[in-house]
Amino acid sequence: MKTTREKILHLLKNHQIISGEHIAQQLDLSRTAVWKQIQQLKTKGYQINSIKNKGYRLVSSPDLPVSEEITIDLKTMLIGKTVHYFPFLPSTNTYAKSLIQKKHSDGTVIVSSVQTMGKGRKTRTWYSKQGGLWFSVILHPPLLPSQAMSVTMAASVAIVKAIKHITNMKSFIKWPNDILLNGKKIAGILTELDAEIDSIHYMIIGMGINVNNDLDPSLKKKATTLKQETQSTVSIVQLLRKILMEFDFLYEQVQAKHLHLIQQEWINHTDIIGKTIRVKKEHTIIEGKATGITETGGLKLNTEQGRQEIITGDIEYI
Ligand code: BTN
Repeated sequence: MKTTREKILHLLKNHQIISGEHIAQQLDLSRTAVWKQIQQLKTKGYQINSIKNKGYRLVSSPDLPVSEEITIDLKTMLIGKTVHYFPFLPSTNTYAKSLIQKKHSDGTVIVSSVQTMGKGRKTRTWYSKQGGLWFSVILHPPLLPSQAMSVTMAASVAIVKAIKHITNMKSFIKWPNDILLNGKKIAGILTELDAEIDSIHYMIIGMGINVNNDLDPSLKKKATTLKQETQSTVSIVQLLRKILMEFDFLYEQVQAKHLHLIQQEWINHTDIIGKTIRVKKEHTIIEGKATGITETGGLKLNTEQGRQEIITGDIEYI
């Protein structure tokens, strides 16, 4: 269901100029109600000119992932039908978790311009300054907990495809689900889930993409941003919309339990196969050649001790 503000925005986007009367008639509102909504849009960063005796003209929209910008004409079945935008949050994953107990719809997206306590994998901090894309998606996949990794795999494929579409640059998935551009980390995914033995209660897929943000000096050797790599500012709104559309399409395959398709897409977008890698676990180091990935996200390795499947760990290419 679209809000009145979204409906007005839709009309503004589809007309060069539209009168307040026309909007009021179309949406069964009073002229004053229309005027109030227009003022609200202006406070959100929309530049709308009032032209005497003619009506309103939308001059520009903010590149902020506010609900109106993301949901408008978004071609998805499930993901992103509801979007909650915040200028600041401690962490979109933490906020998503707080929504689980309340009424929420499957596929809800939480996005924040800044995270003050952004979380990375393995309890690491995720620096989330203004200019990046930080968001989480709430999902209730009809899968076994052992199959949950396929949802994260679908998310990483969606990010790679969206980056290609928006910037024309080819990024790659590094196992388990980091995204690298020109050898440096451009995006990461933190998946949190709650499950019992045979069913998943919920999953929160948190995605962080370095877009136009500055990087913490400690990260500059290993990470990069889309702005740095393309030498131009990248639209956060366009990037988020494209990721949601790609993710939604792949998630339909997950729901249909076509996990082999996700596995194949993941393989198509990684550069790990054939590489010699080192996996650091708590007390051990395993070295071997990556030969593939399983449907449930395990990394297949050929080591001197024979074939192994790695379920967790951080890897480096050697
Ligand atoms: C990683 O360590 O590579 C995963 C990083 C995940 C960061 C994203 S940003 C949006 C969401 N909210 C968080 O607190 N973390 C994830």
